[in-house]
Amino acid sequence: MKLQNGKRISNLLGGAAILALATGCAHVDTVSEEVEAAVPPVAEPLMTEVDVTVTLEDWPALQTPALDPEIEAKVESLLSKMTLEQKVGQVIQADNEWVTPEEVKTYRLGSVLSGGNSAPGDEPYATMEEWLAAADAYWAASIDPEGVEVAIPVIWGIDAVHGHANLAGATVFPHNIGLGAANNPDLIEEIARITARELVVSGHDWTFAPTIATPQDDRWGRTYEGYSERPEIVAAYAERIVYGLQGHPGDEDFLADGRVISSAKHYLADGGTVNGNDQGDARISEAELRDIHAQGYFTALEAGVQTVMSSFSSWNGVKMHGSHAMLTDLLKGRLGFNGFVVGDWNGHGQVPGCTPTDCPQSLNAGLDMYMAPDSWKGLYESTLQHAKSGEIPMERLDDAVRRILRVKLAYGIMDKAAPSERPGANDLSLLGTPEARAVARQAVRESLVLLKNNDSVLPLAADTTVVVVGDGADNISKAAGGWTLSWQGGGYANEDFPNGQSILDGIRGVVEPAGGEVVFDPDGTSAVAADVVIAVYGEDPYAEGIGDVNNLDFRPNGFDTERLEAYKAAGIPVVSVFLSGRPLWVNPELNDSDAFVAAWLPGSEGAGVADVLFQTEPEYDFTGRLSFSWPRTASGAPLNPGSEDYDPLFAYGFGLSYASAAENLGELSEDPEIVLTEAEVAEMLTLFSGGAPGSYWSAVLVEGGQFAPLQSGETRLGGLTITRTDYSIQEDGLVLTWADTGTRFAIGTGGAPVDVALATEEPVDLVFMAMVPDGGSHEITLSGGCSLDGSCAGAESLSIEGGDWSEYRVPVACLGHSDLTAIRSAVAISSSSAGSIALADMVLQPTAGEVVCSD
Ligand code: BGC
Ligand code: BGC
Repeated sequence: MKLQNGKRISNLLGGAAILALATGCAHVDTVSEEVEAAVPPVAEPLMTEVDVTVTLEDWPALQTPALDPEIEAKVESLLSKMTLEQKVGQVIQADNEWVTPEEVKTYRLGSVLSGGNSAPGDEPYATMEEWLAAADAYWAASIDPEGVEVAIPVIWGIDAVHGHANLAGATVFPHNIGLGAANNPDLIEEIARITARELVVSGHDWTFAPTIATPQDDRWGRTYEGYSERPEIVAAYAERIVYGLQGHPGDEDFLADGRVISSAKHYLADGGTVNGNDQGDARISEAELRDIHAQGYFTALEAGVQTVMSSFSSWNGVKMHGSHAMLTDLLKGRLGFNGFVVGDWNGHGQVPGCTPTDCPQSLNAGLDMYMAPDSWKGLYESTLQHAKSGEIPMERLDDAVRRILRVKLAYGIMDKAAPSERPGANDLSLLGTPEARAVARQAVRESLVLLKNNDSVLPLAADTTVVVVGDGADNISKAAGGWTLSWQGGGYANEDFPNGQSILDGIRGVVEPAGGEVVFDPDGTSAVAADVVIAVYGEDPYAEGIGDVNNLDFRPNGFDTERLEAYKAAGIPVVSVFLSGRPLWVNPELNDSDAFVAAWLPGSEGAGVADVLFQTEPEYDFTGRLSFSWPRTASGAPLNPGSEDYDPLFAYGFGLSYASAAENLGELSEDPEIVLTEAEVAEMLTLFSGGAPGSYWSAVLVEGGQFAPLQSGETRLGGLTITRTDYSIQEDGLVLTWADTGTRFAIGTGGAPVDVALATEEPVDLVFMAMVPDGGSHEITLSGGCSLDGSCAGAESLSIEGGDWSEYRVPVACLGHSDLTAIRSAVAISSSSAGSIALADMVLQPTAGEVVCSD
């Protein structure tokens, strides 16, 4: 199902309003149904007005590939023939969902991208033929010479972040976190080479990969996109993946047939934000910026990576998209980057003073190509005006265009045929070849980390009765995680992976030929006599801020892991294969398993798991080692070698093998030890106070699929206008005025669901102050657990009375919140008639008296 509404949300909120995308979508219905998207909670903003500075001498002067004089001459010649309008078009990238080929020609846009949900056609993903038809259409439009002296072909970008996983039939490799555990740079180059080849099949020129984040806080929803929490593996991999995608600068193979343009992302310190907040703020020293987060860039840049994507995030309060120091002085200056900087999904709109459709600040700071998926047209108009007025100096615009042309020429775009006619294109037999699948399967084997193997229960004998349980066993989509066939991934049938195999398939492939028997019992409820149980379960797919969590407690979803106890009690050994995008606190599951394998997000070659569990070849052993520390408690506090009081359950580098006998792992504590400070408890229970949402929450106006974050002044959406009034301090109250009834005011979270049960175990009431500014009375409806389509889990009507502030109280159970452990959409307020109310101080408090709901 297509996420039409969600697209519009991200228009308004940039990358932050992503929650609604996930939940507005049928195939993620295993995720909480509650939706009310908003900006993820960020700790108090750091108000840095001036750009941060860096001490350039403390950074290495890199040996990036030298400029090619022939290309430079061509760049100058092209540039001299381009109109101002063409130059402005060149620095803008639109998403294929929102731009037609005709518009690409009219506006002479530099690039088209396909976001995670933006496949051509009506389905969430497209066939090779559909991709190629679109690629050809954009390309043909861009080279149409009508009205220009020289036409510059577009390049088409997509997120092939673990193989070309948006294309059915392509090879889906393990996500980066698993590849990091494999710690095999040769393998990485091979994977990248295959990914490039498969991208060419569908007519894509450019992948937004590799992600070379060094995630420090595993609560971040993008942890799995990182190879390691330490810079060593990231640095060793970054250059090899760039070589694999682009070829080697100076060699014949550089950007030759079968290669694509690569993008190192997200520059810089996307993995260093406070609390692991997606798109948040990295409040770290310059030394940490350099020594932890920049190491992968050093090798990627020297390997000739052609583009670098700016991060949504900030460094010490300054958005990367607006930082001259980071983009220009450091990256292009000291580090010698000659390619171009591309923005991230309307990320420029988050720079103070900017909107998605107007942001000279970013270009002036050093961004060369705006990623303006849906906002491109308005952005084009405003950028053209700024170029004419001199607000954007011509020199800067020329420099940006020069960089883009340089990359395009190095890629040979001026001489390339239509995408469908290029060597290696338009041939389904080139996807998921036996060779490619063998590499993916090897990657799965090498990524597995054996955390527990008591009494050497592994390796398993194949000629036995094996019961396979768990919702991950026969579910390639779950094993592949986010960024697979759609942005959030998840929910696809195995048939949607025509060249893939589930973990169950792989087990069958080993056990059945050996004369053993596989009993597949996903829920693990039938009593069977078995020699061993293999349980495959773990996190459901997610991407970006949707995957942010407040702690690392694993919450069983599609499979009840308590079932494992029954097998243990019956004396049947249990082997857990755990699917996850990060280390999680799984002590109860570890206790209930004799062997425990961290399998990360292995992708479409599930058979790699059986290879090692059954040791089908003598050399197959567990060689994966943790590239992220595994937590002893669920608190989620950053846990990295060298961090204060480093006390992991399994340290960075840990991993058992058959070759080395290990001691049995004893019984572990089952206390998750998530302890909130008193202040955190109070904050969690504060939805709105002092004129702003509490730090765990966000406030938005919602209508249909449209969202508008609550502003400090006036906010208007549809028929609802919110202005400020004084309650106990200046402007800490809100006046909600409905001209008509469609729009709701909502408080919820766009990122991690909030576990209110951590703050209080008692039932709670929603308590707030309200009045009717003009006196009289006004009827409102309070609802909870609302989804994008407007349906809510429960609702309660309330009459606000009189011109003086009074307290109102509604049990949250009446709003449909039966489970306090994962609240996303806390409360939405709507009105059934035109009129106004004023509102202030909205908190959760232990229920006073009995819970009585009106209906
Ligand atoms: C992500 C990028 C991605 C882009 C295009 C953004 O939201 O942060 O990693 O490349 O979208 O899909
Ligand atoms: C797109 C993703 C993008 C995200 C940003 C989604 O609609 O499909 O590619 O990263 O929006 O918010």
